[in-house]
Amino acid sequence: MSSPRHFLTLEDFSEDQLRNMLAVANELKARTKRGERDELLRHKVLAMIFEKQSTRTRVSFDVGMRQLGGETMFLSGDSMQLAREETLADTARVMSRYVDAIMIRILDHDDLLDLAGASDIPVINGLTRRAHPCQVMADIQTFEEHRGSIKGATVAWVGDANNVLASWVHASKLFGTRFRIACPDEYGPDQALLADIREAGAHVTLGEDPHEAVKDADLIITDTWVSMGDTDVSDRRKTLKPYRVDTNLMGLADKDALFMHCLPAHRGDEVTDEVIDGPQSVVFDEAENRLHAQKAILCYCFGIDTV
Ligand code: CP
Ligand code: NVA
Repeated sequence: MSSPRHFLTLEDFSEDQLRNMLAVANELKARTKRGERDELLRHKVLAMIFEKQSTRTRVSFDVGMRQLGGETMFLSGDSMQLAREETLADTARVMSRYVDAIMIRILDHDDLLDLAGASDIPVINGLTRRAHPCQVMADIQTFEEHRGSIKGATVAWVGDANNVLASWVHASKLFGTRFRIACPDEYGPDQALLADIREAGAHVTLGEDPHEAVKDADLIITDTWVSMGDTDVSDRRKTLKPYRVDTNLMGLADKDALFMHCLPAHRGDEVTDEVIDGPQSVVFDEAENRLHAQKAILCYCFGIDTV
């Protein structure tokens, strides 16, 4: 049996592979907008396992499968025997006998790798503490719809160093994006992410000054200051306050710069209402594109490279 096509982190792919998925995403989006339905995944069943909360990931995968003729099954991690110490590997072996693919949101990235390693069916990363690759595929699709190729564009990340940032680092290396990170030292990248940043070479720079990072940028991105699983919550607000994206910070970027946030947003903390509801914000296009990008990821996982 050939090994399944997992979608675990963007680092696992070539630029051509991701470009192909984005092309499929754009085509499927256009068809959906024309009211056309595909049956590309007819009778396929996707199990969706959530160890943590979700709105966008859960709903967009569910709707995406249905729009492609497939079906889904929602499983909360705490209702499974996983919560009573059944191993990820045994869970994967059992699930492989029932369903056609698994999408999982699980904090520990090594747990995701254990599941995928034992699975005979494709596994999709619906967010770990290490990476959120589905989100960044939707982000790139969104940027390119508004502004053309991300290659050579300048993108600034301002705030906490987290999973979404990590997937942007991986994407920037592949797509040739100039990616500038501004994080306070206290909430900066962990060792694994630092290694990724170093490996990305000149494409990615890391500093602490948000003003410097956003200067003339084409896109400013931020995310919550407290990610799922973060326990050191108390001092974050104070330390991260200078990283809030407000109109002053947006004013330092290119005049046509876009603003993105993967959502859910904590309005008044990492971003002001004026910015997230303002004319440069594309956060709801970004949320919509989760649906279209993930339909393309599902197609890839099921061996469909052209539509
Ligand atoms: N952006 C994102 O993954 O949202 P959810 O947590 O609602 O799935
Ligand atoms: N960085 C956030 C993303 C939520 C979609 C978290 O991990 O909680």
